[in-house]
Parts: sequence; C-alpha cells; structure tokens
Amino acid sequence: MRTAVILMLTIFLPPALEAAPPPSNGIPLPATYKHWQVLGVSHRDDNRSLRAIVGNTTAMIAARKGDTDPWPDGTILGKLVWKDSRHPFWQPAIVPGALSHIEFMVKDRKRFKETGGWGFARWVGDKLEPLNNDGGKPCFECHKAAAKTDFVFTRPVRLP
Ligand code: HEC
Repeated sequence: MRTAVILMLTIFLPPALEAAPPPSNGIPLPATYKHWQVLGVSHRDDNRSLRAIVGNTTAMIAARKGDTDPWPDGTILGKLVWKDSRHPFWQPAIVPGALSHIEFMVKDRKRFKETGGWGFARWVGDKLEPLNNDGGKPCFECHKAAAKTDFVFTRPVRLP
C-alpha cells in the first residue's frame, strides 16, 4: 500500500514539485523558467555554443516598455546554453546540441548590492550541478563591461 502511494506520487507529481537541484550562490533555481519568454538569442563562435536569453514576467514587461535602465527589482534573466551541432538532415543548419549550462541574473538591489544589484547563479550540465563561485563575484567582474546597460549585455530583440 505504502509503495503504491509513493509510486503514484512519483508518477503524478507536477514538474514544479520535482526535486529541485541545490541552490547556486544561495539562489534557488527559478521553478518556472521553462515557461519564460525569449528576449534574445546569441551565438559564441569562440566556444561554439548557442544561447537563448529568456526573462520572467517582470523582465518581459520591462523589456517591452523599454523600462530597462535600470531593470526593475524582481527581474530574472536566464541564459540557456547548448553546445552547437549540425542538423543531421541539413548540415548548414547550426542547432542546439548537448546542454552546457543554464544561468540566471536576479535583480534585487538591496540583497545583491555588492554585485551591481544582481544575484548570479549557474547550474551545469544535464545534472544541473550548482556553481558556487564567491557569491557570483567573477560573473559580475565580466558583466561590468556592460555597466552602461545595468550590467546586462543582451538587448531585447526588436519585433515589428
Ligand atoms: C568572461 C565574461 C563573462 C562571465 C565571467 C560571465 N558572463 Fe554572463 N554574459 C557574458 C556575455 C558577453 C553575455 C552576452 C552574450 C551571450 O549571450 O553570451 C552574457 C550574458 C549573460 C546573461 C543574459 C543577460 C545578459 O547580460 O545579456 C546571463 C543571465 C548571464 N550572462 C549570467 C552569468 C552568470 C550567472 C555568470 C557567472 C556564473 C556569468 N554570466 C559570467 C559574459 C560573461
């Protein structure tokens, strides 16, 4: 009986209640990130990876209004990164291959005042191993190159 209940719970548990990976830099994995909208895409030709940049509802409203200087508290930006690969039926098409990592920037000016008002978090590979790198300070160091745009590199894509 007990086994049956556990089995049923395992089968019918909604995805949001699945075991979450441990936090990264004290930040939990945003539970709904798979439902967020796309803000931009990018391709790095030095390490051959494809990226989708996504945002939570606060981010999307701010982006569509052009209210991103600075981004409002509550914004979460996500970057989903895959190694690039060639489509098996159409070689010139570069498509996502293995998952490299997923990472997030969480805007909370009070909590993350040491790092430009942003919390930085990353989970690596299919197992979503959390990265803990000195509270995200190395992330912030590189994002300082985008200090003029609130430490965010991505410009939301334009749509007609
Ligand atoms: C060596 C420089 C560098 C480091 C270190 C770095 N980033 Fe970035 N990050 C970038 C660049 C450049 C982009 C925009 C281009 C792209 O899509 O990769 C970016 C984009 C992002 C984005 C999408 C929003 C934006 O700013 O465009 C997120 C989220 C992000 N990074 C999180 C992180 C996290 C978390 C870490 C640390 C674990 C980190 N980054 C470390 C350079 C860096």
